[in-house]
Amino acid sequence: MNQLVAQIEQYKKEMEATQVSNKEALEAFRIKYLGTKGLVKSIMGEMKNVPADQKKEAGQLLNEFKIFTETFFETLSQSVETDDTTNSDTIDTSLPGQPFALGSRHPISIVHNKIVSIFQRLGFSVAEGPEIEDDWHNFTALNLPENHPARDMQDTFYISQNPDWLLRTHTSSVQIREMAKKELPLRIICPGRVYRNETISARAHCFFNQVEGLYIAENVSFADLKQTLYFFVKEMFGENVKVRFRPSYFPFTEPSAEMDISCLICSGEGCSVCKRTGWVEILGCGMVHPSVLDNCGIDSKKYTGFAFGMGIERITMLTYQVKDLRLFSENDVRFLQQFTQAL
Ligand code: PHE
Repeated sequence: MNQLVAQIEQYKKEMEATQVSNKEALEAFRIKYLGTKGLVKSIMGEMKNVPADQKKEAGQLLNEFKIFTETFFETLSQSVETDDTTNSDTIDTSLPGQPFALGSRHPISIVHNKIVSIFQRLGFSVAEGPEIEDDWHNFTALNLPENHPARDMQDTFYISQNPDWLLRTHTSSVQIREMAKKELPLRIICPGRVYRNETISARAHCFFNQVEGLYIAENVSFADLKQTLYFFVKEMFGENVKVRFRPSYFPFTEPSAEMDISCLICSGEGCSVCKRTGWVEILGCGMVHPSVLDNCGIDSKKYTGFAFGMGIERITMLTYQVKDLRLFSENDVRFLQQFTQAL
């Protein structure tokens, strides 16, 4: 009996020391231990020499050993199989590789990146702020006190009344946050998602993306605003695009203007995109209203500034001639995979 135990231990040690790295070695292992003339079979044959009173114990021992060997073999064959796939002998290097699909940037991201990089070259840095805002940053500080009729210009999603949380309707709220830090001069652009309670159609959505800009220093003039936006338009749409400013109204700027560019589709001839006018509006702008500066604790006698704001969707539609704004948020891969090129 002791001999049997010693023998089993010996076999186990040998098994564990065996190097099995390929199918041939695995088969040799199987024949040596589990084959019809293998060691497991032969040690089982020792049963007949075991005295009758020890047969039960010996039987158990041998059975355990058999199961141990089988399990050991199973584990070995699994590791050989996985190893085999990385074995250079079995790789056919002439087979074509597995194609794997490359993703592409969302058109809004491509245009966003381009807009940001143009203004960065002019010395603007990027500022970000929360999408959930309070009434003061989104309206009151921007010269839109409670009950001001111009609040209706932007249909707002309100979250709660007291405290008054809402989804920001423009990223002008980020400009207020930056102005309140009072580190002047200030030259920032504020890209981000904004929300308005509008009926969803080909031309409007309840959320969209904006880039707003702000420059505050001593002696900033409307000429600086125009020159900055001229530069932007030429970089964005090319040298041949024409620009015009129209007087407009925003509570937070005075004077205010809207900027049009000549229609990219018909080059000013008149088509359905520009409603036969030859011009499309791309942004609002103006000189920061002195009350806004005062609201943020900036001396409006010493400092002046300009601000502008545009919708990225609008610019993207013009750039790629996309007719329906809803495509941008539907995540249809057939649409999205067409925009592989950075601008
Ligand atoms: N905040 C305005 C809007 O969202 C855009 C704007 C920004 C206009 C700055 C003028 C100056 O419509």
